[in-house]
Amino acid sequence: MSDDTSTQSILRTKPVEDVLAQSADEGEEHSGAPSSGKLRRKLGPFDLMGFGVGIVIGTGIFTLTGVEAKQHAGPAVTISFIIAGVVSLLAALCYAEMASSVPAAGSAYTYAYATIGEVFAWIIGWDLILEFALGASVVARGWSGYLANLFHLPSAWFAEDGSVVNVGAILITLVLGVIAAVGIRESARVTNALVLVKVAVCVFVIVAGAFFITKSNLVPFVPHAEPVKQSVSGLKQPLSQAVFGISPSAYGMAGVLTAAAVVFFAYTGFEAVANLGEETKRPKRDLTIGLLGTLALCTVLYIGVSFVVTGMVSYKKIDEGAPIASAFDAVGQGWASTLVSIAAVCGLTSVILVDLVAMGRIGFAMGRDRLLPPAVAKVHPKWGTPYRITIATTIFVAVLAGFVPLAALADLVSIGTLFAFIIVSLAVPVLRRKRPDVHRPFRVPLSPVLPVVSALACLYLMTNLTMETWLRFAVWMVVGMVVYLSYSRRKARLATGEEAEAVTA
Ligand code: ALA
Repeated sequence: MSDDTSTQSILRTKPVEDVLAQSADEGEEHSGAPSSGKLRRKLGPFDLMGFGVGIVIGTGIFTLTGVEAKQHAGPAVTISFIIAGVVSLLAALCYAEMASSVPAAGSAYTYAYATIGEVFAWIIGWDLILEFALGASVVARGWSGYLANLFHLPSAWFAEDGSVVNVGAILITLVLGVIAAVGIRESARVTNALVLVKVAVCVFVIVAGAFFITKSNLVPFVPHAEPVKQSVSGLKQPLSQAVFGISPSAYGMAGVLTAAAVVFFAYTGFEAVANLGEETKRPKRDLTIGLLGTLALCTVLYIGVSFVVTGMVSYKKIDEGAPIASAFDAVGQGWASTLVSIAAVCGLTSVILVDLVAMGRIGFAMGRDRLLPPAVAKVHPKWGTPYRITIATTIFVAVLAGFVPLAALADLVSIGTLFAFIIVSLAVPVLRRKRPDVHRPFRVPLSPVLPVVSALACLYLMTNLTMETWLRFAVWMVVGMVVYLSYSRRKARLATGEEAEAVTA
């Protein structure tokens, strides 16, 4: 079996019982006591929501609202946020079913391993590493830029473009990496505090901004469709245009849909919650609350913020770089922009922290299955965290964020996320068919219809991303396949028949 080259070997699946046995059973969970090679159960439902909101609310709402209102949707960018929220909700329902039935670290990677086979699990794990590593790096550079603006720091060391070494991005990544390595409880405390600040500021924007809404700014709510001013071609055009000849439109319902694909980025990240199944006290109940609660809260805040901001200032004049702060400037309330900048810095800090935490759990799950070197899956005897992989990914992200201008690669985060959503959506009906007996504390209603609609909706949003993004994604995946075929396929625990051994340092 160890050198089996047949299709069978790459499509082998890991029994659900194996997955459940590797993560501790719910009986021992309440003490949070250390157990050999296992992560520690210390999180409750609010911590999970804290991690969820911590990673979701970031640059998306603070920047994309302006760009998309101006270029594609007008005031109806609010509808774009609703559409993207519904697509995310469909995926979140699928995640909730999988996470509550198979509450293990690794989320989509683990679900794929238990349902559609090892090669898909590998692809998804590789894809998630891209999503979280790139997400953390892009956001670390954004964080540095916001900080420089707030405190007038030298752009040579802090700017997105123009800095040779982005000291701010490196420092914030290293500090958060230490917190992520030292403990899940510590990470939860820091995240919760940051989340409180950013949620409070979003509520403030909605409540205070509502007093400055001018009705004429919101009429017509969906501006008439116009041909796009600058047509794009080549690698910059969306896949839907290159393959199906569908031109992107400005405004009208088509414009609203185009904007929905872009603002989807603002929802990415909630699935990180599903990685914390082995650190949650009551995973079968709380993962569902964490996933759906995060999404419900963020959707309501996004709808409120986008509606109020486009009501305060005409979409034709809205600022594309800092729409929220500028909307307050436009109504003579400049002081509020400092508040918004503080919220943005807090918001971005928690995004980076949760990215690092999530990446640690994915690497841990892959190392435990021997698809990555098993040494990376060691759990620290005192901290109870997968510290080695957390430190390794922190250094990787710090180097990436410190030396490479990455903003252009942000769309790769969206494509990677959408791809993971498709796999998880499809995993729901597959697992139901293969293992109808598995206990499912949460069930997606109307399966297989909703999971299939979820997968198709994600695919649709993917087709709105540029050819360039698809190409970069394909390159990353090809590199992943080379690593899988040359290393992971042969070393996998399922290939060698090795038992999982305790992975404590
Ligand atoms: N959803 C996160 C953001 O908007 C990544 O920044």
